[in-house]
Amino acid sequence: MDFIDLPPLLSARGTVRLPGSKSISNRVLLLAALAAGETEVRDLLESDDTACMLEALATLGVGVSPLGENAWRIAGASGVMPARQADLFLGNAGTALRPLTAVLALAGGNYSLTGVARMHERPIGDLVDALRQLGAAIEYTGQEGFPPLAIRPAKIRAGGVVKVRGDVSSQFLTALLMALPLTGVETTVEVVGELISRPYIEITLALMARFGVQVVRDGTQRFTLPAGSAYRSPGLMHVEGDASSASYFLALGALGGGPLRVEGVGCDSIQGDVRFADALALMGAQIRMGSNWIEACATQSGKLHGITMDCNTIPDAAMTLATTALFAEGPTTLTHIASWRVKETDRIAAMATELRKLGAIVEEGSDYIRITPPHASLLTPHSGIDTYDDHRMAMCFSLVSLATALRINDPGCVAKTFPDFFERFAMVAQAVPVIAIDGPSASGKGTVAARVAAALGWHYLDSGALYRLAALASRRAGVAWTDEAGVAAVAAGLDVVFGENSIRMSGEEVSEAIRDEEISSGASQVAALPAVRAALLFRQRVFRQAPGLVADGRDMASVVFPDAQTKVFLTASVEVRAKRRHKQLIEKGIAANILPLLQDLRERDERDSQRSVAPLVQSKNAELLDTSDLGIEQTVAQVLVWSRKVL
Ligand code: DC
Repeated sequence: MDFIDLPPLLSARGTVRLPGSKSISNRVLLLAALAAGETEVRDLLESDDTACMLEALATLGVGVSPLGENAWRIAGASGVMPARQADLFLGNAGTALRPLTAVLALAGGNYSLTGVARMHERPIGDLVDALRQLGAAIEYTGQEGFPPLAIRPAKIRAGGVVKVRGDVSSQFLTALLMALPLTGVETTVEVVGELISRPYIEITLALMARFGVQVVRDGTQRFTLPAGSAYRSPGLMHVEGDASSASYFLALGALGGGPLRVEGVGCDSIQGDVRFADALALMGAQIRMGSNWIEACATQSGKLHGITMDCNTIPDAAMTLATTALFAEGPTTLTHIASWRVKETDRIAAMATELRKLGAIVEEGSDYIRITPPHASLLTPHSGIDTYDDHRMAMCFSLVSLATALRINDPGCVAKTFPDFFERFAMVAQAVPVIAIDGPSASGKGTVAARVAAALGWHYLDSGALYRLAALASRRAGVAWTDEAGVAAVAAGLDVVFGENSIRMSGEEVSEAIRDEEISSGASQVAALPAVRAALLFRQRVFRQAPGLVADGRDMASVVFPDAQTKVFLTASVEVRAKRRHKQLIEKGIAANILPLLQDLRERDERDSQRSVAPLVQSKNAELLDTSDLGIEQTVAQVLVWSRKVL
């Protein structure tokens, strides 16, 4: 899928069961593989990153077998990987590549580790330097300091002190700690410089303890593995929900009213990212927490305020603070986030670029970002929010749908940690309602839709006008109506402002011009071109704004707003429609004859229902209303009755 269009939201509330934590899942899989005995892992995250780890373990000869939904049995190899030679591809999974590098460097075999292009730009030199101190033979087969890597058998001189830098990524220390019990000799790891993202080390130590290895700590910079440390399976392991994934829903609850509850993490969690809830509370949200759940609600005033925050301990969840900041009063400054630059993408640069598309003023430094929300409402980027193959970009920008319809490009990247994110998001989000009204030519759908919108105080979309505008603008630009790419480009660039009773194109009033006979015929031609329909799709969706939208046109219920709450298909006998059209023309002072009108409508109905692109068909779940014997008032009243039924 190239993009997903999120509808604008009125509010958000409900309960979300979180997927398993990525950090815990990949650590548990590796520890279970290294342990003595079998481990049954339940509630494992099923995602790209865990698939990378499972596949790597299988390639290394470890017995991994599925046990039904999110459960796996891992046959522990007691510290010795069965395969002495293997080529591993680890995608963009840092939580797989880093610890496997450490484990395999001590394993005495021949291994290669590669990933996607971005993985080859993510540093690993600090870990390799540490492992080389133990005698490991690791070569860079690409660029010095980065994967891909080749590992050869080597004599490991275990014991003593190993130094590792902690200020680029805490995963280097995690990798080393997890691998060292394989040597069986007492070894001390000394962290050089600042240790960032410390809560992730807590996860590592807690899980190693569950597998029988107690690391002895001396302050925050020295960690000792006692002699004879060896992993033993605890038998059964439950994976906690993902605390970073919780952040999107907690922010959604805080901004969208709530209460919104996430289940799977709470105050008993071993994940540092649960502290994201404190940051939200600092911004003014109301937070409640139980042992296994967290709930967020808006404040009394409904508005959050900007904060300045050191995000060293919550680097991943901090991205959600950056998009939450768009809705806060005053600027928000997130500091101590240099690690963002070496994640799935350069997250500081990516975040700044995309926030600016929404009208925010953003200042970025090597290790901080400062976000000032726009004075007026957020802008709607028609080219969409880019996600840089970074799952967290896609997920944290989803919050923007609280302000506007939003297109997110390449949404499939969420599969890295949260494959069904958008489905779960939709389940707790209340979208701005839409009434879609469709029907054949001269069924009165335009008039009815406009009246219903006025009665409800909602917005109105005359989708046909957009095709007419595309035809008119193409004609003026000298683009032939048969030139699909040309007309689509014109349609994408239309400069239109819809007023109460006016349509201005590039500043000129064109409501009359687009009703001209010839332009009508052009509209019907360009509306049959798929690229033109695609170019106008998001533009139509942007009309959906609180408190609601009434949209008329042939694909409103099926393509443009398939989630419309109320769908109506208006029809009338062809004779009645011909009479109505005749009356309209006469009233406009245009001479007309009923028979040719009748003939014309019959032909149009035939063409419209036969055409391959957006044919005229009654949407399956649409209410059918035959208006042959109804006046306009009765028709409007009936549509209002249907709409109230679902609101
Ligand atoms: O509803 P109208 O007559 O203003 O529509 C102008 C043209 O655009 C007409 O040929 C039907 C077409 N159209 C379409 O294909 N899809 C829509 N959603 C609306 C109109």
